Amino acid sequence: MRRLALLALPALLGTAAQAAPSGQQIVMHGNDNGALPCAACHGVNGQGKPSTGAPALAGMPASQITAALARIAQGQGSDAIMRSIARHLSPAEAQAVADYFAGLPKP
Ligand code: HEC
Repeated sequence: MRRLALLALPALLGTAAQAAPSGQQIVMHGNDNGALPCAACHGVNGQGKPSTGAPALAGMPASQITAALARIAQGQGSDAIMRSIARHLSPAEAQAVADYFAGLPKP
């Protein structure tokens, strides 16, 4: 029994590493599930981009970002591409990008 637990440990650690997505990675490159890189529309520093209609996210409280993503995923946003992106982020990924943008200086 004890040997089994030891054998399972590396597998568990591997899973934990995968379960914590990098917010910066998703912002710059999107995810494997079809979510486009946030930076393309919201700017590399999260400063927003008037030409795309994407508002600034830098310095916004993470809870406000995850709430907005949930609201948009439910169909309450005005932008169809943004809606698709919100629907293709896992809860852990939404949290990771929210934490990343929240940590950037306000524009
Ligand atoms: C194709 C351009 C585009 C991409 C890529 C994009 N967004 Fe957006 N996003 C928008 C637009 C346009 C809006 C404003 C319209 C709306 O709310 O539906 C928006 C709104 C938002 C809002 C709501 C802000 C608020 O104050 O209401 C959040 C949060 C957000 N985006 C997060 C993200 C994240 C996180 C990513 C990357 C995973 C991302 N966006 C990628 C275009 C984009």
